[in-house]
Amino acid sequence: MIEFKHVSKTYPNGTQGLRKVNLTIEKGEFVVIVGLSGAGKSTLLRSINRLNEITEGEILIKGQSITKARGKQLLHMRRDIGMIFQNFNLVKRSSVLKNVLSGRVGYHSTLRTVLGLWPKKDVALAMSALDRVNIQEKAYSRADELSGGQQQRVSIARALAQEATIILADEPVASLDPVTTIQVLDDLQRVNKELGMTTIVNLHSVDLAKKYATRLIGIRSGEVVFDGTAEQASDDTFDQIYSRGSQKEGSEASRA
Ligand SMILES: Nc1ncnc2c1ncn2[C@@H]1O[C@H](COP(=O)(O)OP(=O)(O)OP(=O)(O)O)[C@@H](O)[C@H]1O
Ligand SMILES: [Mg+2]
Repeated sequence: MIEFKHVSKTYPNGTQGLRKVNLTIEKGEFVVIVGLSGAGKSTLLRSINRLNEITEGEILIKGQSITKARGKQLLHMRRDIGMIFQNFNLVKRSSVLKNVLSGRVGYHSTLRTVLGLWPKKDVALAMSALDRVNIQEKAYSRADELSGGQQQRVSIARALAQEATIILADEPVASLDPVTTIQVLDDLQRVNKELGMTTIVNLHSVDLAKKYATRLIGIRSGEVVFDGTAEQASDDTFDQIYSRGSQKEGSEASRA
């Protein structure tokens, strides 16, 4: 489904975000990426849909290189990937429905989407996406009238309306309280199970990572240092992922 082949990312200032990452993620997995702040979690996630350009290696999605994709092909590949952000990334003054419909922009001409001329089929799709995350009754509310958890559900619905088969979520619950956190992660899990949606989530909390992940990937200094199930991850594993002293800084550093 998603394949990283010797992927490295060096930022223009010389910081190495990723170092020779090799990974294969299968359809329907619920992958949680854990690691210290600065370990490279966002860099890894954002390289999948090319919000971040990698500097070495290649990423394949369903056997096709997104790294080499251009123009229409890139647009079509990106359509397949929904993205969920910590701050929801909604148009605050637009209705919930319009926000969800924005997941359809990749399917229509710019003029049509600017004018808001959405086909009935798209509106039905958006409404059913809202239904799946249990907030259909909020369709005509302004996005900024919703609670944080509800707004995050709108962004999940947007990814569903996009008919994505991959969801990338970068710290989707970092701004939410503990109860809402569980609700949003439960929603992501339900969508993963019911639709077979391949899901990759960056999380700070080890407990939540263990609770939801079918596969845990630990990264440190841009390198994959653990890859396995939650059961396989011992306390030692987490010590290794989170041991601050041995996190490399910049291009190369000694182990403390
Ligand atoms: N645009 C950028 N330019 C230069 N360096 C960057 C840039 N973005 C990230 N980095 C660096 O790349 C490394 C990995 O950053 P990344 O944002 O992927 O970490 P993270 O694991 O997502 O951290 P956090 O948990 O704080 O979100 C860090 O050393 C960071 O400082
Ligand atoms: Mg990050």
